[in-house]
Amino acid sequence: MTGSTVLMIGGGGREHALAWRLARSERVAEVLVAPGNAGTAVEPGCHNIEVDPTDVVAIVDTARTHRVDLVVVGPEVPLVAGVVDALAEKDIAAFGPTAAAARLEGSKSHCKKFLLRHGIPTGRASTHTDADSALAGLADFTEPPVVKASGLAAGKGVIVAESFDDAAGAIRSILLDGRFGSAGSEVLLEERLRGTEVSILAFCDGERYSLMPAAQDHKRLLTGNVGPNTGGMGAFVPSPVADDRLMSRVEREVIAPTLGAMAAEGRPYRGVLYVGLMVTADGPKVIEFNCRFGDPETQVVIPLLESDPLVLFEACASGSLAGIEPIWSTDAAVTVVMASAGYPVSGVEPVPISGLDDAREAGCTVFHAGTRLGPDGSVLTAGGRVLAVTAVATELAEAARRAHGGVALIQFEGSQHRADIALATAEVRP
Ligand code: AMP
Ligand code: GLY
Repeated sequence: MTGSTVLMIGGGGREHALAWRLARSERVAEVLVAPGNAGTAVEPGCHNIEVDPTDVVAIVDTARTHRVDLVVVGPEVPLVAGVVDALAEKDIAAFGPTAAAARLEGSKSHCKKFLLRHGIPTGRASTHTDADSALAGLADFTEPPVVKASGLAAGKGVIVAESFDDAAGAIRSILLDGRFGSAGSEVLLEERLRGTEVSILAFCDGERYSLMPAAQDHKRLLTGNVGPNTGGMGAFVPSPVADDRLMSRVEREVIAPTLGAMAAEGRPYRGVLYVGLMVTADGPKVIEFNCRFGDPETQVVIPLLESDPLVLFEACASGSLAGIEPIWSTDAAVTVVMASAGYPVSGVEPVPISGLDDAREAGCTVFHAGTRLGPDGSVLTAGGRVLAVTAVATELAEAARRAHGGVALIQFEGSQHRADIALATAEVRP
């Protein structure tokens, strides 16, 4: 049997982890990564190709030119823009939801209405398109609400306000000053939920689903869980709050009704459904849906997947997940993100990275995100989140110790990371 060619869209840590795992499949001959990064450039079985991951036409052209067997879409932007629909028109199989289904992530106001319409547990919220209405809407909350731009804002459109003045400032900057452009033409005010945040991801084939091990992300930039929200500074599996009871409750109250409702609404959900959940004193509540794998959750979940990833992805794409039960390692995994100076606010000039081989020799898998190869083959930073240093071990404390140990061996100017990823839970110190 000759193996398949997979086209992986994206260039972050999530995509490196997916490409790395796909390239290890006996069924995969080659993974083309568009555009990839310095990590995928040298990953055995992977090849980078220069394609803009947000350009739907270019993605379809590339898939045709290279006669790929499956397209796996990492980021939300092309999904929301309809890349899966455009590929389907050309009879090219793709792992991911259609644009109609990806709207669950593309519009927070649409998602909130969907959740309320179907009685799926979530925080109370109001939506507004003009600032006066939103400012007046603040009076409906007894504590400062979370202010959200409804559209896609690269993870930056959510302001967890600490005071009503901050909330009012966020409303003005989004609706009056256009801080997030058209993504901020509508604003949600949402009840602040308190509890433990968990990311529960499921493979979905339009009708059936299969849960992945639940992960916990660390959204805040700084050690101690303070500072601005980011795309995620580190993650771990297993989550102590995601016991069997919680997982069955999430299946029953969130995932099964969502898939049923999406099919009933004529837009069956295929691909990964990412449920961002707050486990509150009143039970689990949906904070958001994402229409894709999480970053950095993927860097801890995918190393634990023992089954063949291509079989799973193809089954989701073709609606044939019945009878396929993926096997997961029961090990723990921890990933610590190393970000550039300036993240999450501004970019900086590229700087060289050293110590990658040392971290690998110490037992870590280093997934690349914002990196590129310099002319001499050296690895340079390329802004934002740069690396996700991952370790797997039987115990969470050991995985955390190794991942933090790996980070200590890697250097680049201005590097930022959190020293407490997984440690509050693992109760160990590096
Ligand atoms: P979202 O893009 O909706 O996931 O929001 C980004 C992050 O903001 C979430 O991962 C949470 O950490 C935080 N957040 C969003 N909504 C709420 C909420 N209603 N209550 C508390 N924190 C929230
Ligand atoms: N880690 C959060 C996300 O992928 O949206």
